[in-house]
Amino acid sequence: MPITAVTGSASGIGAALCAQLREAGHTVIGIDRANADINADLATAEGRQLVIEQVLAKSAGTLDHLVLCAGVGVTAPSCGLILAVNYFAVSSLLDGLAEALGNGHEASAVVVGSVASVQPGVDKHPIIAQMLDGDEAGALAAIDDIKEPSLAYAGSKLAVSILVRRKVREWAKRGVRLNVVAPGVVETPLYKASTEDARYGEATRNFVAPLGRGSQPDELANVIRFLLSDQASFMHGTVVFADGGMDAMMRPERF
Ligand code: NAI
Repeated sequence: MPITAVTGSASGIGAALCAQLREAGHTVIGIDRANADINADLATAEGRQLVIEQVLAKSAGTLDHLVLCAGVGVTAPSCGLILAVNYFAVSSLLDGLAEALGNGHEASAVVVGSVASVQPGVDKHPIIAQMLDGDEAGALAAIDDIKEPSLAYAGSKLAVSILVRRKVREWAKRGVRLNVVAPGVVETPLYKASTEDARYGEATRNFVAPLGRGSQPDELANVIRFLLSDQASFMHGTVVFADGGMDAMMRPERF
């Protein structure tokens, strides 16, 4: 049965996914700050290294699937933390676990992005290039100066999507598929905290998709499980929006 590592396993989408995967017979390695098989802080270089070492030890260097779901939203204590967890931890774990995935059976990985990545103007912001250049200290200092959590969040999710798409050739050579799922509203603690935020609460509550509702974590877990599976054997480097029609509504001519 497949060995699957999942970050953000203690809550929301990651917890729903782990439950589905265990039900389907996967050996799941859950990773989170607490209440996980591997407890570590992905905001720090030490925490990321610990995760990589422990995943390699628990999987004996052969990993079939990786899902990078851990993330923080606009209510995070600092903008730098948003970039550290949502972008730099993802970049580090993809690099650190690529070889183990290359040893896996019909291996694949999924990164959880966001429909926030299509927020107008974010693609032009210099913070995107700074992240993609791997300049963590510089990017964190710059975004903390700007003090715009929604830019930090949208930027982190755009950068991580570009990062994945840039890896298609390298990862195809390893025989590992890599895709992004971009959710819209998912009713999790992260979303609930955003609806109660003094600065962004009203806009978050008004962010309603054409389907007229938010989604449940299991609905996103279904999409991630599909992308991990052989059913998606020709999907690679794709950003799959699972957002109730939000992306199509905001920019129908782009896809
Ligand atoms: P959640 O808050 O329920 O779960 C996120 C998990 O990530 C938590 O268990 C948390 O402890 C973990 N995490 C956060 N910082 C960490 C760190 N430094 N080290 C280790 N683990 C850490 O949130 P949700 O909604 O399930 O979020 C999952 C992913 O989905 C995130 O990447 C989020 O940005 C993304 N997303 C969520 C949306 C929503 O409406 N809920 C919409 C679009 C994307």
